[in-house]
Amino acid sequence: MQYGYFDDEMREYVITRPDTPYPWINYLGCDEFYGLFSNTSGGYCFYRDARMLRLIRYRYNNVPTDSGGRYFYLKDGDDVWTPTWKPMKSKLDRYECRHGMGYSRISSARNGLAYSQTSFIPLGDKCEIHKITLTNESNADKNIDMFSFIEFCLWNANDDMTNFQRNFSIGEVEVEGSRIYHKTEYRERRNHYAVWAVNVPVAGFDTDRQTFLGLYNGFDEPQVVFKGEADNSIASGWSPIGSHHIKTKLSAGESQTFVFVLGYCENPEDDKWENAQQAASGIINKKPANAMLEKYSTAEAADKALAALNDYWKNLLGRFTVEAEDKKMARMAGVWNQYQCMVTFNMSRSASYFESGIGRGMGFRDSNQDLLGFVHLVPERARARILDIAATQFPDGSAYHQYQPLTKRGNNEVGSGFNDDPLWLIFGVAAYIKETGDYSILDEKVPFDNDETLADTLFVHLQRSFNYTLNNKGPHGLPLIGRADWNDCLNLNCFSKTPGESFQTTANFESGIAESVMIAAMFVFVGPDYVELCRRVGRNDKAELAEKAIAAMVEAINLHGWDGNWFLRAYDAHGKKIGSKECEDGKIFIESNGFAVMAGIGLEDGRAQKALDSVKEHLDTPYGIVLLQPAYKEYHLELGEVSSYPPGYKENAGIFCHNNPWITIAETMLGRGTRAFETYTKICPAYREDDSDLRRMEPYVYAQMVAGKDAERFGEAKNSWLTGTAAWTFVSISHFILGVRPVYDGLLIDPCIPANMKSYSVTRHFRGADYHITVDNGAGVEKGVKSITLDGKPFEGKVLPVFGDGKVHQVVVVMG
Ligand code: GLC
Ligand code: GLC
Repeated sequence: MQYGYFDDEMREYVITRPDTPYPWINYLGCDEFYGLFSNTSGGYCFYRDARMLRLIRYRYNNVPTDSGGRYFYLKDGDDVWTPTWKPMKSKLDRYECRHGMGYSRISSARNGLAYSQTSFIPLGDKCEIHKITLTNESNADKNIDMFSFIEFCLWNANDDMTNFQRNFSIGEVEVEGSRIYHKTEYRERRNHYAVWAVNVPVAGFDTDRQTFLGLYNGFDEPQVVFKGEADNSIASGWSPIGSHHIKTKLSAGESQTFVFVLGYCENPEDDKWENAQQAASGIINKKPANAMLEKYSTAEAADKALAALNDYWKNLLGRFTVEAEDKKMARMAGVWNQYQCMVTFNMSRSASYFESGIGRGMGFRDSNQDLLGFVHLVPERARARILDIAATQFPDGSAYHQYQPLTKRGNNEVGSGFNDDPLWLIFGVAAYIKETGDYSILDEKVPFDNDETLADTLFVHLQRSFNYTLNNKGPHGLPLIGRADWNDCLNLNCFSKTPGESFQTTANFESGIAESVMIAAMFVFVGPDYVELCRRVGRNDKAELAEKAIAAMVEAINLHGWDGNWFLRAYDAHGKKIGSKECEDGKIFIESNGFAVMAGIGLEDGRAQKALDSVKEHLDTPYGIVLLQPAYKEYHLELGEVSSYPPGYKENAGIFCHNNPWITIAETMLGRGTRAFETYTKICPAYREDDSDLRRMEPYVYAQMVAGKDAERFGEAKNSWLTGTAAWTFVSISHFILGVRPVYDGLLIDPCIPANMKSYSVTRHFRGADYHITVDNGAGVEKGVKSITLDGKPFEGKVLPVFGDGKVHQVVVVMG
């Protein structure tokens, strides 16, 4: 069943009933201030860091699901309801939620009162705007009471959820007219506060949760609202909230609009108080709040800010657009997939409805991969991101697995030793240079281990990355796996027996033996980019050495990484094979096969095809390709977390969507367009829209995992939004299927599509020009370019030149 539909014109997903199979969310904000916003107005917002500077309290894994957010209660006579459905789960005469690019709009109606709430974060400001319009659709006058409600988080979301002995005594607010200020801890070391305001006079307010709700009531039973009268409570400790009471009279047909703003404000350390002499009076300096609220004090101003936001997204997504008969593919590749890539750029893996915003920093490997999804959209920001990531690399080439976005420093708790990490830096930098042609980034001086005194050029960083793999090989000449490779859960040196121990940071058994065929294949996959970059900066000596090293790695894979019908996955700490027909469970894995074929291994002698055929035979399902088979039925000390999951979930034979595109790309290398497209569509959410009861996650975004065939809930997705799936699927569809791929010297045209896809067109912004590319597959082939016409003239070769002239260039590609 479907719970909505795509409005392609508006670039919106329209949810038509509130009780979706899971909260279906959107992200507000594109800069430094962000909000998570569910289809019933649940969620929270934060400034820069979801853990350290959170404005709205949000309880994860709460009952009922998705409790807390920005709520507005309406009262018409004795009738009380919440027009966003939650928290009261009110019966509504109509309901619709439109999630658009950086904004959401919930519209509903009950008993002749229409409600519309448009929520967004304006460009360049640190606030959420909620523009609310009430319309009296009945024939009689209505006297309406509206109550706003948010619950303040005491900033540090982790403390907020745990440190009650302190927290219940520190909450402080200030109220001035329609403006409620949350100033907990401002008296001491913070120089920031929140303001929750509305642009009209209020009849009253509340700031104490117990007063507003009643101690034993939920959000669905606020006693103040039922009473119809605010209490003007001032919170002192306990749980500060912000609630405005607005009384309004609407004659028949009349509309009224209110602009609510929830903002984050900072003052200079020496200008914190309204009056320097009166710090003790505790009256905060409201200048920044006044300026912000002044700016958004009218509906017109809010509309203008929303229009600017729309322009921002229109321009951004205009850099890559798709037109095709297959609307699902076109809307995913052209709009939603890129949108999700921007969200993973902004959030990394920190805040979603599955990531609590307090746990994980930015991942070294994740961030490098995410880059592939947005480097064409925001190349300057990708450049800055690369330099941040590289600065957390150690002098020996290894890397902190994670770093904190606020401090940009490596995270000691997780540390290093994930032996694939260094290679992802080469991968990310190469992608950036192919997109931009900006080699100057290689000359940037970048610290090692965040230590300026250890700084060297980014090129040296890449060298160390490459050499790290070479310096850390095992008995078969394959790279040592360390704590794990891309598969965080293949922990071959862990041997953990203690419940609760982290599989990633526990190393009870430093074998110096366990090897990864996946890292080996990855080395062969990214190695040529390193060679190319060496050449381009005039280091032929290094290029030649690197080529030899790559050849040696291919040799090692040929000798020790092939299992007869597919590529092996690894050798464990005892030198035993993993991912082999000799194994009882985990006979075949997806990762090494995807990477080996992407690296071109076995293309000549038929092993590549054999490997992909084996993947299809053993790992394929209607919902995507599972990570391994057979699933591990019991916990293996020598394998770690992968065997800790029940069969069919996560890395233990779940459909780990992130790695499916590797098979898609590998299939295009064999020229099998139909199969490539099939693997693309199986995990693509738009193709499962009418299967939402089973899939459960948003039909407009990729999920990290779909339960595999061994799982009880085969086909059910989890962990939507923050996943490397976004970037990789974008690469697979745009670079390899539609075949518009940035390379060092231009834009390569190399489609690989199903024979029955007769035509499509792509607009691609590339290094300062736009390429309008029409592909004609009247011949009905899967791969092969017969001719290219560029700006009306025949063009030789497949790499379109760099124009950089700000113009639109017409490209007609005929396949055959
Ligand atoms: C998660 C991690 C990613 C890892 C993957 C497989 O998506 O964020 O770094 O590669 O799991 O374990
Ligand atoms: C990755 C994996 C997950 C694991 C985690 C540990 O995200 O997907 O299964 O628990 O890494 O850090």
